[in-house]
Amino acid sequence: MRKLTGTLVMGMLFVSIFMFASSDKPASNLRADYDGLAMTPPMGWYPWNTFGQEPQNEKLIKEMVEALLRSEMREAGYAYIGPDEGICFYRAENGKLTTNLERYPSGLRGLGDYIHQRGLKYALYTDAGTHTCSKAMPGTKGHEFEDMRRFAEWRSDYLKIDWCNTKGQDIVQTYTLLDEAQRGTGRPIVHSLCSWGVGEPWKWAAAVGHLWRTTGDICEPGKADWNSALEIVFANEKLSEYAGPGHWNDPDMMIVGMPGLSEAQNRSLFSLWCLMAAPLIAGNDLRQMSESTRQILTNIEVIAVDQDPLGIQGHIIRKDGQVSIWGGKKLFDGSQAVLIFNQNNSPSQVTISWEEFGFSREASLYVRDLWKHQTKGPITKGLTVTVSPNDVIMLRLSRSKEFPLPPIISADTYLISLRSNSSRPEKLSASLTIHNAGTVDLPLWKVHGPLPPWLSVKMTKKGGKQIINNQVNTAGLNPGYYHTIVRLDNTEPISKRPMSAFYYDVELEVK
Ligand code: GLA
Repeated sequence: MRKLTGTLVMGMLFVSIFMFASSDKPASNLRADYDGLAMTPPMGWYPWNTFGQEPQNEKLIKEMVEALLRSEMREAGYAYIGPDEGICFYRAENGKLTTNLERYPSGLRGLGDYIHQRGLKYALYTDAGTHTCSKAMPGTKGHEFEDMRRFAEWRSDYLKIDWCNTKGQDIVQTYTLLDEAQRGTGRPIVHSLCSWGVGEPWKWAAAVGHLWRTTGDICEPGKADWNSALEIVFANEKLSEYAGPGHWNDPDMMIVGMPGLSEAQNRSLFSLWCLMAAPLIAGNDLRQMSESTRQILTNIEVIAVDQDPLGIQGHIIRKDGQVSIWGGKKLFDGSQAVLIFNQNNSPSQVTISWEEFGFSREASLYVRDLWKHQTKGPITKGLTVTVSPNDVIMLRLSRSKEFPLPPIISADTYLISLRSNSSRPEKLSASLTIHNAGTVDLPLWKVHGPLPPWLSVKMTKKGGKQIINNQVNTAGLNPGYYHTIVRLDNTEPISKRPMSAFYYDVELEVK
């Protein structure tokens, strides 16, 4: 964590100057309008909380990819994975960022291909200043355009941009320049701003990024800290009005499942992250995860609250001593998510009334317990529950007995590689499958924008899956290498909200 009070003041000053200077910018100008990304909070895994800088390397990331697949976290929506400040690259004499091959022998592009082939998306890390925090890697200052091109060449899908070693830099101008440089590459990349709340990014960063850290680091690497996590929760809670589809408050990567936390604490933190529509970036060692942690991280009913298409960040509606009652989170089907969090060291009895959550007192509601996976009801007026110490009760309240789950999307690959060895025109094809762990039946995905003349794409449905068939015709193509990024769009049918754009790479080699 960087405690930068001086920088904070300077940052706030710059923010107000910038906001005044650009007051003609419409408030609805979102970075996500440009690329359709992160319409629900990004999900994935990042190494920092458990490992710090050591021993981050290609082997560790690949082991974590395999552990993520084994644990079925991919099907639960976790997608973005890659090194954090893992000494991945240096700046060569020609000014180009170059892979540290000792740590990443396949090259950073090779690692990206591996991650894409496994049906995951590739996350990388950089810094907006002269160097990254430990100074072990170069920052982007003065190299914004060439570095963003490099991250695109490495086929990154997510970029965390830290704010260390930025003395004298204007935070808004810096992140705006990086956004411009990144857009110029044509590769869709989720931009994750990491200034730990410096410069109040929630006030301006939606135009230049998809998420921004709201606080300092949740823990020192390897040292999960329940109290520091709760400080972050209560700071992030105050910012609920700033979050929404494509622009999220980020209370940091999760510590769920790290040593030192009880099962109840893990369940509480995960529920709080989901009620706050926070990015769900796991930070525990997935290779040694207990079954209880795995079940917490993959509880699809709780994830559905986080991934709700309305993208509302819930907040505290009432506090009763050490018990907080969270609501304000209307969900896509008209139901409401409710969280009761007990910070006492003894069980607490709590009564909630339907009125507190926007229903009439006499409403007849069904109550779904998202941890017990049980529905009760119909019940009028309200409910009395007992919450265990440091634990939560998480509910959905609805007039209907059905509790549909919104789309939670994963795919078996994000990279289609085809090769034609013939000198005559050839027809080649390869498919990928999009899975939906939600219960809402999705319409067919639609191709966005024109495809190159050598590629056509057709969709078919099979149960909850959609098969995306890519057909390539090499007629008229000269020998060479061809690459395109396909964008597919869809709309969630109940809320009619646009879903995150689905992108994948198609490459073709013609001999
Ligand atoms: C900052 C970030 C952390 C991590 C480290 C790397 O402290 O907030 O999440 O990326 O840098 O040095």
